[in-house]
Amino acid sequence: MSALFRVAVVGCGAICGNHITAISEAGQTLCALCDIEHEQAQRVAVKFGLGNIPIYTDYQTLLDTEHPDAVHICTPHDLHAPMTVMALEQNIHVLCEKPLCISLEQLHALHVAVNNSKAQLGVCHQNRYEPNMLRLREMAAGNVKAAFGSVVWHRDAAYYRSAAWRGTWEREGGGVMINQALHTLDLMQWICGCPSYVTAHVFNDSLQDVIEVEDTASACFECDNGIRFHFFATNAAIDNLPVQIRVQLRSGDLIEAQNQQLCFNHKEVSSYDHIPTVGKAVWGKGHRSLIRDFYSCLEEGMHFPIDLAEGEKVIRLILAMYMSNGKRVAVPK
Ligand SMILES: NC(=O)c1ccc[n+]([C@@H]2O[C@H](COP(=O)([O-])OP(=O)(O)OC[C@H]3O[C@@H](n4cnc5c(N)ncnc54)[C@H](O)[C@@H]3O)[C@@H](O)[C@H]2O)c1
Repeated sequence: MSALFRVAVVGCGAICGNHITAISEAGQTLCALCDIEHEQAQRVAVKFGLGNIPIYTDYQTLLDTEHPDAVHICTPHDLHAPMTVMALEQNIHVLCEKPLCISLEQLHALHVAVNNSKAQLGVCHQNRYEPNMLRLREMAAGNVKAAFGSVVWHRDAAYYRSAAWRGTWEREGGGVMINQALHTLDLMQWICGCPSYVTAHVFNDSLQDVIEVEDTASACFECDNGIRFHFFATNAAIDNLPVQIRVQLRSGDLIEAQNQQLCFNHKEVSSYDHIPTVGKAVWGKGHRSLIRDFYSCLEEGMHFPIDLAEGEKVIRLILAMYMSNGKRVAVPK
């Protein structure tokens, strides 16, 4: 495949390797890295054999100097929306890591920018490309009665202290929901339909001296199509359990997805562990497929499907959870 787009990666922390690898596998040219920590970007350049790739410590300077065709935003959560807006204003395509933004004000700014830009905005909900999730959604289509999803993981004080933005309302925008559990909640609404109401409880169970955001959350979501689904997430477990989605069909059949395994009435339908991962196993294997699809769409002048309208659904659900405080609230439109 010929290299068609010059792409810059912004934010050279834990997740950037998944982007760097997938950009090159998609046949695109990585033209620059950007990180406020020059040495961090330099380490990444060495690790991925990027030679003398230009490194910027200021995002605006990167945009003005390199004029990339696309940027991948892999920075802390509070910067996603402003950095996306800055690129879209220069008609530069954006692939933004999750969460798309952390407030309704930021979401509004994104709508204005997308409406006024010739460039596309894609959101990194890579788990929608997991084969078991595509299969589950297909098997459940039009036949869901009830569902339950859970993310039971371990994130300790050392994890939160590893970067100053983590664990804060101002910079992370929340805790387990907006960071670790966002993907699974997005899959739930993608499979069941997007809810209009939520009753949620969010609390800090075990990290009260470490983080100001929630480490645990539970919620009941109600969709207009009559489906009600439940969700539980915690970072306070002593180990990482497999992510689970259970879907009860109107036929009485039960579909269960657990990480890479899919079962129908407790019998394994498929398991996809043969696909190699880049980075941590909990990030799944979808970055490659999503990024390949993003550039195929750009090359062919097609609309990338996980756009602002898709990316904002789970943001609205999570913001509604944070507003709920145990009461039934409407998901903000
Ligand atoms: N899709 C997934 O499964 C997945 C997995 C992990 C992380 N993520 C997301 O990726 C993003 C980054 O997460 P991470 O774990 O790599 O974080 P990290 O803290 O390891 O890396 C963030 C990097 O951004 C840099 N940075 C901060 N401010 C900057 C600025 N103004 N300009 C340029 N660089 C700046 C930091 O120096 C750091 O190197 C987050 O949004 C996170 O939620 C997504």
